[in-house]
Amino acid sequence: MKNKHFETMAIHEGHDTKDVKGSLSTPIFQTSTFEFESAEQGAKSFQGETDRFIYSRLGNPTVQTLETRMAALENGESALAFSSGMGAISAVLIALTKANDHVLCSTGLYGCTFGLLMMMQEKYNISVDFADFSTEAEIRKQIKKETTCIYIETPINPTMQLVDLQLVAEVAKEYDIPVVVDNTFSSPYLQRPLDLGCDVVVHSATKYLNGHGDVIAGVAVGKRAFMEEVGATTQKDIGAVLAPFDAWLLLRGLKTLPIRMDRHCDNAEEIVSRLNKHAKVKQVYYPKQSEGKIYQKQMTRAGGVIAFEIDADTKKVQEFLNALTFVKVAVSLGDAETLIEHPATMTHAVIPEAERARMGIHDSLIRLSVGLENVDDIWEDLKAALATIS
Ligand SMILES: Cc1ncc(COP(=O)(O)O)c(C=O)c1O
Repeated sequence: MKNKHFETMAIHEGHDTKDVKGSLSTPIFQTSTFEFESAEQGAKSFQGETDRFIYSRLGNPTVQTLETRMAALENGESALAFSSGMGAISAVLIALTKANDHVLCSTGLYGCTFGLLMMMQEKYNISVDFADFSTEAEIRKQIKKETTCIYIETPINPTMQLVDLQLVAEVAKEYDIPVVVDNTFSSPYLQRPLDLGCDVVVHSATKYLNGHGDVIAGVAVGKRAFMEEVGATTQKDIGAVLAPFDAWLLLRGLKTLPIRMDRHCDNAEEIVSRLNKHAKVKQVYYPKQSEGKIYQKQMTRAGGVIAFEIDADTKKVQEFLNALTFVKVAVSLGDAETLIEHPATMTHAVIPEAERARMGIHDSLIRLSVGLENVDDIWEDLKAALATIS
């Protein structure tokens, strides 16, 4: 698949029909274990001296096809698939830290990533700071001699602020600190952090990569040596591996990633322009309009997630959400269905209130994942629900 375009790799990479009796669709290798041809071959396999599959927690052909495809799409050397985005994030963060180290993070993080880091802080004294990455001087100021990892979400969930990945990667290189980027909101179709000098990409593949709201999955992509280390340690021994059937669903979802992302972006841009003009909407956060310079530098389009604030407390926000008809009140994002949620009481509720306020997650903030429905229908539902609140 060398030198092929993104759309082509999303459909073909890692799957050769000749290897699987001509099957156009990647077969689901629904097996926990694999027979060795001899006891000696089994022993050699455990020494890493064969490329045979051993046991599906250590590798599975369907999952491997997905990993090969994801590595190509992120333009990385190697990928690993996990049973959830948090499985991928925890395997990478635990691999990059030991007791008493320091992790430097973007100002906002997904609630469970925040929770994981707080747990690591409590159990292993791994300190965590939320850094302003806006200038080179600021980044340098925040790096400590114990810093072993920089962890970034961009766009930041749910405030949609951006971090300049190239700038952070350039400074981090000087200190030899790996930069990990959660690329869930953009997918590699809109942003490729490894091309900008970052070291590892993690995904909640539950979202755009799968795109159909029927899988929980995660992926990590990076340099071969590092991914092999993760595969042989935190992934193997903690064991959050992806099931073959879920890998197959993801392979199917990936085939339409480019056309789905284009449609998500078209719909989101239109909804943003209508929200901007609505009297009850105080503020709209969408990278293309609120983060112009960094957006131009690192994203091809701004994606399907919008955050906006209305002049309302939690109770009124709940009234607005309850008034919607086909727009679903649900966490997650990147599905065909338009999903709406209230971060302060849902996805980011585990973050203490003061910390949430610092991250810009006010009670009036709403997150909207614009789906693939007709944009006029999405807008009519939002407009009618906005009309019900005083
Ligand atoms: C940005 C981001 N990262 C990671 C996760 C965790 O992924 P998963 O739910 O697949 O474990 C989520 C889930 O919402 C997310 O939004």
